[in-house]
Amino acid sequence: MTKVVCCISGKGGVGKSTTAINLGLALHQYGKNTAVLDANLTTPNVGVYLGVPKVPVTIHHVLNDNRKKLNKAIYEHNSGLKVIPGDLSVGKLNNLKIDKLKSVVADVEGLLDYLVLDGAAGLGKEAASALDACDSVLIVTNPELAAVTDALKTVEVVKKMRKQVLGVVLTRSRKDDVDLGIKEVEEMLEYPILGMIPEDKNIRKASSKGFPILHKYPNSEASIGYKKLAAKLLGEEYIDMTPPIKKKEHLIRDLLRVFGFKSR
Ligand SMILES: Nc1ncnc2c1ncn2[C@@H]1O[C@H](COP(=O)(O)OP(=O)(O)OP(=O)(O)O)[C@@H](O)[C@H]1O
Ligand SMILES: [Mg+2]
Repeated sequence: MTKVVCCISGKGGVGKSTTAINLGLALHQYGKNTAVLDANLTTPNVGVYLGVPKVPVTIHHVLNDNRKKLNKAIYEHNSGLKVIPGDLSVGKLNNLKIDKLKSVVADVEGLLDYLVLDGAAGLGKEAASALDACDSVLIVTNPELAAVTDALKTVEVVKKMRKQVLGVVLTRSRKDDVDLGIKEVEEMLEYPILGMIPEDKNIRKASSKGFPILHKYPNSEASIGYKKLAAKLLGEEYIDMTPPIKKKEHLIRDLLRVFGFKSR
């Protein structure tokens, strides 16, 4: 059975897309067949963050053309992550059949272990279609009063739609006493914090090169946060499953091989 998990928030810009991408990759590294679908249909970012802004079949094509099936819109990124990007052209938004997302997602049932949806911010039709299409939800928020207040509204909507709230992902947390603390956020939202992702400038550095931080900087603090979040979702103990970084001597040996000085 494919588990469809939606990353959602009340406030925009809190880190949903970053979370969907890196959680997706962490689940993949744990051996789960995972894809990330850009359900932020008016302003899709997943393809942009992964350096694949243009692909032949997008989620928009699938929603608007019954002959196009979702499995034809799955692409494998260099990091190993499977992605279903959105279309960047404004024209594709005309008469977009947002309500079809649930039935379209049902088409990949059984093909994947996990489908992670990157939802839209707010409480509009777009966010609702992603919620409708998923089984369970991760509430993404920053530890700021405005973001948590908006997240609270999202929690109410999610409950009304009878979707399971897995917990909260607290992103961009800083080591100061200005923002809300873990306990305060948990008390306000009444759900546990499953993932803590610190403010990490490597996130922007990696996405500017078209990679998830987990691929480019696997040992950075935010990457470890995403690996721990995946482990928690899977109910497994956190183990570092990052492919080992090549030691210097291996690199030199490989280089010698390239230049024909050493055989395999
Ligand atoms: N932990 C972090 N540390 C530093 N920067 C971060 C972190 N998480 C996300 N960002 C940056 O914050 C910005 C917003 O992130 P992202 O696009 O993931 O948010 P979003 O919730 O998906 O936004 P939107 O609501 O517009 O879809 C991006 O520039 C991203 O690189
Ligand atoms: Mg986003």
